[in-house]
Amino acid sequence: MNDSNNPIVKQYSTPNLFNSITNALKNTNKNLNEVTIKDLASVDFFHIRGHQSTKELANVCELTPNLKILDIGCGIGGTVRYLASDYGCYVTGLDIIDEYTKTASKLSELLKLNDKTEFKTGSAINLPFRDEMFDVVWTEHVQMNVKDKNKFYSEVYRVLKRGGKLVFHDVFSEKSDLVYYPVPWADDNSVSFLMEVSDVERLLKSFSYKISFWEDKTEISAKAFQKSFKKIKLNGFPPLGLQLLMGENTADKIKNMALNLSEKRLTVIQCVRAK
Ligand SMILES: C[S@@+](CC[C@H](N)C(=O)[O-])C[C@H]1O[C@@H](n2cnc3c(N)ncnc32)[C@H](O)[C@@H]1O
Repeated sequence: MNDSNNPIVKQYSTPNLFNSITNALKNTNKNLNEVTIKDLASVDFFHIRGHQSTKELANVCELTPNLKILDIGCGIGGTVRYLASDYGCYVTGLDIIDEYTKTASKLSELLKLNDKTEFKTGSAINLPFRDEMFDVVWTEHVQMNVKDKNKFYSEVYRVLKRGGKLVFHDVFSEKSDLVYYPVPWADDNSVSFLMEVSDVERLLKSFSYKISFWEDKTEISAKAFQKSFKKIKLNGFPPLGLQLLMGENTADKIKNMALNLSEKRLTVIQCVRAK
């Protein structure tokens, strides 16, 4: 989506992202022909605990080669490339920000993963895919930006095959009016639609899912943000870091997440459900 008046576009808009990333790689003396998933991990996993949390979640999903996976709100595609390269799956990433999907495609090309990955610009609440197309629908840290939760989870259910899995790693509120802003997905509450854990449980129950995995990751996430904030205060940002996506107030976002999580204002859940 290119509409600069759309508040989500304003929130995430980052022009020339591919150039900023490749310049940062060059500044660390990386040969662009030899870039790996690990080299990009500090910037292309735009969620709590980055690559590590994605690995943990993938580990409990029983993924097999050639599964068709959709990553809703894929950002610049770190998870898409990881699931394609380490599990041999065919992974489609969808995101509402055109600059992100374009950057994601170029990064996949750089890592020679275009045969197993593709990216589309589109909306989570109107998925441009036919019914029952995917074995796995994956999503990390996206629904917090989506007001119509019912539509979000209905669309997930619609495009999932029978027996397929919904996999998420997401942030929920305990009391949404008590959250400190800015946070990584929102500068203020105009683009943040936090729901309580009990509401997502209720919503998921209205579909006929079988639960296979549910884990509260709040404590470990709080510690990760505390550590990351200390590191930034001490050393500043690394050349290739999430500040390239989060902008000037990145340090405040990290500090607030450490507080929101340690004071239990927010909850982090990883979940797998089978259709
Ligand atoms: C915090 S980032 C997470 C990105 C990615 N999932 C990751 O973990 O690296 C949230 C992403 O959701 C996308 N997003 C927000 N609302 C969306 C919507 N309605 N449809 C599709 N993508 C959306 C944003 O553009 C952004 O890339």
